[in-house]
Amino acid sequence: VAILVAADFDAAGWALWCRLLREALPDERLLRADDPSDAAAFSAEAAAIDVAVVANPKPGSLHGLPRLRFVQSLWAGVDRLLAPAAGLLPDDVLLARMVDPAMNAAMAETALWAVLGLHRGLLQCVHRQRDAVWADPLPLRRADEVRVAVLGAGQMGRTVAARLVQQGYRVGAWRRGAAVDATVDAPGAATSVDLHHGADGLATLLAGAHIVVSLLPLTPATDGLLDARCLAGLPRGACVVNLGRGAHVVDADLLAALDCGQLRHAVLDVFNVEPLPPSHRYWSHPAVTVLPHIAAPTDPRSAVGVVAANIARYRAGHAPLHLVDRTRGY
Ligand code: NAP
Ligand code: GLV
Repeated sequence: VAILVAADFDAAGWALWCRLLREALPDERLLRADDPSDAAAFSAEAAAIDVAVVANPKPGSLHGLPRLRFVQSLWAGVDRLLAPAAGLLPDDVLLARMVDPAMNAAMAETALWAVLGLHRGLLQCVHRQRDAVWADPLPLRRADEVRVAVLGAGQMGRTVAARLVQQGYRVGAWRRGAAVDATVDAPGAATSVDLHHGADGLATLLAGAHIVVSLLPLTPATDGLLDARCLAGLPRGACVVNLGRGAHVVDADLLAALDCGQLRHAVLDVFNVEPLPPSHRYWSHPAVTVLPHIAAPTDPRSAVGVVAANIARYRAGHAPLHLVDRTRGY
């Protein structure tokens, strides 16, 4: 058997990942999907590949592998892998997504930075500095007077919500399923995080939110969720932080809401088209902070252990952890 690595790494990324994977999986045969020098070996061994480790694989790179049974994503979000247009994944293949506490912690840092920057008007000051403008301060609010709605209460959403509560914010979170557990605990915090679900739960949560942090997976149900109707459900002057996927936001609706003052500011890490085209209005909008999809990158140093442990489970005949439910889309 052999493991295929199919990714869009640059040269340094390939070198690092190959070294780490070889160290973590010393008894496995590893093949690179893209290596021209390995082309002959690759075609001879394609029939032996039963596992693939992928990060933005090229369309078609998982086809023609008759033994392929398990794909481990290096990304937390698997929307690109599941997109029908990509036609990447045979139906009978198990797909596990990346779940790494180090990544959750990085996401919590980004979310905390954004929420603090919005709450205290710090991002606005950064934008005004470009024009040498001494910005007017925002009316002062304590953290416990700021309500944050976290959309998505999974690995990322829960870690973010707990971190924000520990910082003193009032936090509610939204998930798909009816809440089995109605709250998320945050050790050491004065309050916990209330969980909401369903359309009514979302409306209630948004109606009271000063800041919305989106950490949903991209599925048919969440595509375009942050549209004019949803944004109109927020109190005037609210802020949006999108750390999930660009397609959650209807760009024209978000810009219209910013232009008319319904929204005060947006922090966007993910976009409908990435890299964000230079001509896009987001770049120059005074109420938009653009991040280049860096909220929680996969850290090879910790992620390689997650990959090796999940492959070991699979080899031992156990179900891999963090399998994607392909009917739900996440
Ligand atoms: P996860 O553990 O699968 O959690 C997903 C959460 O979203 C769950 O709470 C789920 O509800 C909820 N959800 C899904 N569909 C929903 C719907 N239709 N309505 C309401 N709630 C819904 O995923 P994760 O690890 O937290 O990652 C979330 C996303 O973050 C990824 O899919 C990816 O797009 C994004 N991400 C971005 C970056 C970045 O750098 N910007 C990095 C990593 C990940 P249930 O609890 O009921 O299942
Ligand atoms: C990054 O966006 C990821 O899904 O891991």
